[in-house]
Amino acid sequence: MRTITRFDQLREARKALSGPVGLVPTMGSLHEGHLSLVRTARRECSGLIVSIFVNPAQFGPSEDLSQYPRDLLKDQSLLAREGVEILWTPTREQMYPPGFQTWVEVREISRPLEGRWRPGHFQGVATVVAKLLNAVQPDKVYFGEKDRQQAMVIRRMAEDLNYAVEIVTCPILRDWDGLALSSRNAYLDAEERKAATVLNRALSKAAQAFDKGEREASTLRRILIETIHSEPLARVEYVSCAHPETLGELEGEVNGQALLSMAVRVGKTRLIDNRIFG
Ligand code: PAF
Repeated sequence: MRTITRFDQLREARKALSGPVGLVPTMGSLHEGHLSLVRTARRECSGLIVSIFVNPAQFGPSEDLSQYPRDLLKDQSLLAREGVEILWTPTREQMYPPGFQTWVEVREISRPLEGRWRPGHFQGVATVVAKLLNAVQPDKVYFGEKDRQQAMVIRRMAEDLNYAVEIVTCPILRDWDGLALSSRNAYLDAEERKAATVLNRALSKAAQAFDKGEREASTLRRILIETIHSEPLARVEYVSCAHPETLGELEGEVNGQALLSMAVRVGKTRLIDNRIFG
């Protein structure tokens, strides 16, 4: 595996790859969730590029950019074992050169849920992913469904800007006790780690009610809120029962599918989770 930092080197190395080329964009601090994307991409592509870039543009002023976990040596050895051809670790100066002022904004789909709580977040994500796609020109790009809204924003952007790339989403990977894998789980102490299982428990409780025939959107949201409130270390930021394509909040009876999602603070750590119902 070659580790490359410069854009021009990346373009040269990309030219040498033949057959379908896959890109797995990450912010590093890799866990099994990332590796499952890498393994899917490995099976589907003959050339595989993974990028690691902790993108400052998608962090708000009061968010965890400076503390975001970083471990390049460990990430390198994990990726080498997966048979990745190129690890691309662009620098901040290359991604956002002095005077930078060009942004990609995906409108409606970026506004609710995460977009409401993290203003500017999806503009940062869409801009950096557009830059990664422009540089790598992959045939396929891989995202996890834990960040379902992110994948939807990127899908919209790729369609609107005519990117010739297939966007592949992969299922959420969970720990043995149901906690969705996330780099931010590293912030949790032992007590918080235990408490963090409440997100998946809340989704499971709502799923049980749904399976028994409960279809009232407000009741499904209430089940999420009450379950999270039963955990003293957890604080709800939002819960949602939304249309899975428009992300508009559902009112009344759910007909067909619904996306249940949430952001919850466990101690100081912000965690998200979601599940499609129906
Ligand atoms: O999901 C992530 O890790 C990031 O949002 C991404 C897609 C790598 C863009 O910085």
